[in-house]
Amino acid sequence: MTRTALAAVHDGSGDRLDVRTIRVADPGPGEVLVRMGASGVCGSDRHVLDGEWQLPSPTVMGHEGAGVVEAVGAGVQDVAVGDHVVLSWCYPCRRCRACAQGKAWACTGTRSGECLLPDGTTRLTDEDGTTLYPYLAAGTMSEYSVVPESAAVRIPKEVPFDVASLIGCSIATGVGAVVNNARVPSGSSSVVIGCGGVGLAVVMGLALAGADPIIAVDTSDAKLASARSFGATHTVRADSDVAAQVVEITGGGADFAFEVIGRPQTIEQVPGLLATAGTGVLVGLPAEGEKASIDVLELAESGKTLIGSNYGGAVPSVDFPKLAQLYLAGRLPLDALISDRIALAEVNDAFDAMRAGERTRSVIVFD
Ligand code: APR
Ligand code: ZN
Repeated sequence: MTRTALAAVHDGSGDRLDVRTIRVADPGPGEVLVRMGASGVCGSDRHVLDGEWQLPSPTVMGHEGAGVVEAVGAGVQDVAVGDHVVLSWCYPCRRCRACAQGKAWACTGTRSGECLLPDGTTRLTDEDGTTLYPYLAAGTMSEYSVVPESAAVRIPKEVPFDVASLIGCSIATGVGAVVNNARVPSGSSSVVIGCGGVGLAVVMGLALAGADPIIAVDTSDAKLASARSFGATHTVRADSDVAAQVVEITGGGADFAFEVIGRPQTIEQVPGLLATAGTGVLVGLPAEGEKASIDVLELAESGKTLIGSNYGGAVPSVDFPKLAQLYLAGRLPLDALISDRIALAEVNDAFDAMRAGERTRSVIVFD
């Protein structure tokens, strides 16, 4: 049986999504049909729309979603019909070396980057039969999606879908960068450059970890005010002398600095914000092929470390339930990250607002 779904499709060029009716086939063996409850609008979707990353197309966009299991294919054991699930945009194969080592984020067997299910196909087509590719094999900007069971992680039903969707990308990425990648000890001084949905999740993670001070940097005063509400102790405008202020506030440089935009210019700022032996964490993802220039002698002599952070080093089946539990325990104010709840038809306006730096997080809510 196939069913129809309203979905936001990128036809391969241009920065607009077309919201149209698509067809969604039944889940195959080891696959799960999810009726989407909510999908976040993330900076990583924008990279695709703005032509910075190349993908198979037409693409059903969205990779930050949560919903209800509506049907399961043969052999599915981890979830059952009716379960509430957060989707992972990197489905682990559970067989490769990285998976065996507990590094699901680094899975080499996944085909999520190709927007394909493990068997090399998808369950999505246009009404004329053309294959559609779910972004990162998640395709959450659609009323229905079919994902491998390892991409659908059960969470408690008390977590609302809008909040749950964010756990699947911005929260796992931002909080994970702090607790999994950087492993920030309490009392560490810290800086966050870029306070969008992911950067504010880094601020939340730093507050959870007990970092102090937590210095937020952004071009937008509204984002800086949000950062304060999530635990930033100081705010610095990006158009001022950021390094001088960070050195002043921290008394010599920060123990940890997070870049959460993905711009070469702000990545190049990172070493200059760090104390001797400090750690810079690169969370923001630039356009394909971008390079940044670093003063290597200064970096080496002062014993600084630069680390990459992808998906917050998350193991979805471990980290998503943990993040959901922290939310339910009142330790992560995830509701406050959602600035706008929108209908799927308003998705292009949400990307325009993101480009203008106007919103913390828009979340598409499905009926
Ligand atoms: N200096 C400081 N802040 C800036 C600058 C700058 N030069 N330019 C932009 N910003 C701020 C914006 O004002 C905004 O608050 O960076 C933030 C970017 O946030 P979003 O556009 O909401 O993007 P987000 O979803 O948070 O993703 C950020 O992380 O995972 C990656 O792919 C993702 O590269 C993207 C990044
Ligand atoms: Zn994302």
